[in-house]
Amino acid sequence: VLGWYYVFPVYRVPRDKDIVEEVLRQQGHVWKKNQTGIDLYRKLLSDCCDPQHLFALTKENAPVGKVLWYDGEFYHSHTVNNETHSLFVQSNPLSLPLKKCAVVGNGGILRHSQCGRDIDRADFVMRCNLPPLSKEYVEDVGTKTHLVTANPSIIEKRFQNLLWSRKAFVDSMKAYGTGFVYMPAFSMRPSTDPSLRATYALADSSSDLTMLFANPAFLRSVGRFWKARGVHARRLSTGLFIVSLALGLCDEVSVYGFWPFPSDLAQRPISHHYYDDMQPFRWFHAMSEEFVQLWELHKSGTLRVNLGRCD
Ligand code: CDP
Repeated sequence: VLGWYYVFPVYRVPRDKDIVEEVLRQQGHVWKKNQTGIDLYRKLLSDCCDPQHLFALTKENAPVGKVLWYDGEFYHSHTVNNETHSLFVQSNPLSLPLKKCAVVGNGGILRHSQCGRDIDRADFVMRCNLPPLSKEYVEDVGTKTHLVTANPSIIEKRFQNLLWSRKAFVDSMKAYGTGFVYMPAFSMRPSTDPSLRATYALADSSSDLTMLFANPAFLRSVGRFWKARGVHARRLSTGLFIVSLALGLCDEVSVYGFWPFPSDLAQRPISHHYYDDMQPFRWFHAMSEEFVQLWELHKSGTLRVNLGRCD
């Protein structure tokens, strides 16, 4: 029995039902910003992970010859060469600090939320995994994007790995205007080639978007940061990486679409995403544990978790 304990250590994870009940109990409370909490998290994240300088690979922080160790693989690395170096931006391209940031997760809780206007009012809008922003969703999720993450597996599934026509990809990327695309090109072995192809596809079509490659050292340190706080997943969800980035870079953070539970606050069933009901691999992420962290930050006034309707 002890042997099993070493293989599968038992963590005390709150049950989804308890988390939801706790949120429902807090529903009437008015959220109040707490500058001390904001400053504390900015400092904690700066100390562990230095998002200001390290969130993206740049010509400055990743010179030719630097060895990039993949954060999602054991012992796999890429040594920066002239070709990859030429694809990095010169230095951190964001003018810091960012003021009001909205981080938009893809949760079904956003559907019919009418939060689009609220989201668009932010100075900097971050989205995850190339989400649809078509007309039918605009009222709920808004139109503005300053940074959008792109998971290489989407490039594979939605755009045939960009091995054939690139037009569908280039056209669909127009929805994200003139912002930054943030790709974990050096996290998993199969991510690199599609990420580089996506970069060339954007550059060759004179796209207004700028490609940023996530720095694997930054992602690894953010993973450790949350692990030390009780998030035990194989890998953090994209959403928590981006919330961490926002906490490090923004004066104020509001999050939308983070609710990994099957019903809304009125106990009505909702889909997993605001645009479809594709379920995640349960063993890969620990979204309820992540939500508990976000909720603690909400209660302490460090960031605001929006769950209800915005009108
Ligand atoms: O690929 P991944 O599962 O990480 O993300 P996604 O399904 O594209 O959604 C983007 C992010 O929104 C996730 O990484 C989660 O942090 C968050 N999310 C959530 O909190 N609740 C949901 N029901 C769906 C997504």
